[in-house]
Amino acid sequence: MNIYLYHNTKAEKCNKRLTLIWIGYIIKSRTLRRFEAFLWIDRFREFPEAGTEYINMYQDKKVVFSGVQPSGVLTIGNYLGAIRNFPKFSEEYRCYYCIADEHAITVRQNPADLRRRTYETLALYIACGLDPRKNVIYVQSHVPAHAELAWILDCYTMFGELSRMTQFKDKSKKNAENVNAGLFTYPSLMAADILLYQTELVPVGDDQKQHLEITRDIAVRFNGIYGDVFVVPEPFISRTPSARIMSLADPKRKMSKSDENENATVRILDPRDVIIRKFKRAVTDSDTLVRAGEGKDGIINLMSIYSALTDKSFPEIEREFDGKGYGDFKLAVGEACADALAPVQEEYTRLIADKKYLEDVMAAGAAAAAKDARKTLSKVRRKIGFTDQPRY
Ligand code: TYM
Repeated sequence: MNIYLYHNTKAEKCNKRLTLIWIGYIIKSRTLRRFEAFLWIDRFREFPEAGTEYINMYQDKKVVFSGVQPSGVLTIGNYLGAIRNFPKFSEEYRCYYCIADEHAITVRQNPADLRRRTYETLALYIACGLDPRKNVIYVQSHVPAHAELAWILDCYTMFGELSRMTQFKDKSKKNAENVNAGLFTYPSLMAADILLYQTELVPVGDDQKQHLEITRDIAVRFNGIYGDVFVVPEPFISRTPSARIMSLADPKRKMSKSDENENATVRILDPRDVIIRKFKRAVTDSDTLVRAGEGKDGIINLMSIYSALTDKSFPEIEREFDGKGYGDFKLAVGEACADALAPVQEEYTRLIADKKYLEDVMAAGAAAAAKDARKTLSKVRRKIGFTDQPRY
């Protein structure tokens, strides 16, 4: 922080000579870290809104990391299962939230759509309450250390354990014409994301549990060979049913942003009338009672969504709709959902129009993340026997 103040006040006034002495000092000292800090702090000077607080806020805090793929317009599954929880950690932890564009290309993406969705996902992160001054928010591919560590971890990840990943099996079936190596090694990239920042907690939906388990196995294996290099992370999965929101068209399947059936998903950005219509069409059963029970997956899913949105328990919901039919219940869920998303949508509309601001956030986030990631990556390189990287 001192350097920052120095740079903002004195450095602006100083004459050419002082600047030369300052540059000479940096070169002479050859302390790369100090030079990096200088560059990093200088960036924040350009767009202080996006990151000044990183510098003095987070020392000694435990780390939270999570990410979302920009592979579709985000759904209420992403929102209720993960993103809504992200801001809760901002005060107590040093938080990194990435937009996982490198993961997204394991399935073929239209380039223009991918680029647009990356901005959209960033705007949605902020609209859902993530403050870029309190969280490191960035795009995965802007920090090359992710791909570098992923390759290294590939060499410490077993073919057998990757073959057991249910997401790989599901996605291979769905994309039979493109079962690429990246889809297979997806979990080691995810492990790299998490382990690069010495993460303690990873807030995710229930579907990511297996990926967290393999991340822990890789970390333990690596530490077993080289000593304590990585913190072994814990998943943070909500205990409420919102950890797994199911498709409205097929309540036995997870709601997924890449689902081609538009009636299966409710998108965070869907207009109010669309949200209500989708809930009205949600697949349920031939019974009429709003209650959780055998064979009532559709109703249980709607109750989970309603419970997550209103904080009401299942017995409370059952009492509220006692004597009423599915029609009333579906309308109530739709309205609760539209009400909850309205402020997010309003903020999103404001943010997405300000591309310059979003790019400033991306730049500040990438600078902060890259600096921290480099520390772990250098340690890993040394441990496995790579020589020091020459400066060029
Ligand atoms: P992704 O993009 O599929 O989903 C983002 C987050 O949303 C959660 N989620 C759900 N939660 C409840 N119900 C649902 N129907 C539902 N659908 C999605 C996911 O669990 C996730 O938390 N591999 C990750 C992205 C990622 C990542 C990471 C996450 C990349 N690197 C490192 C954590 C840490 C993924 O595909 O999420």
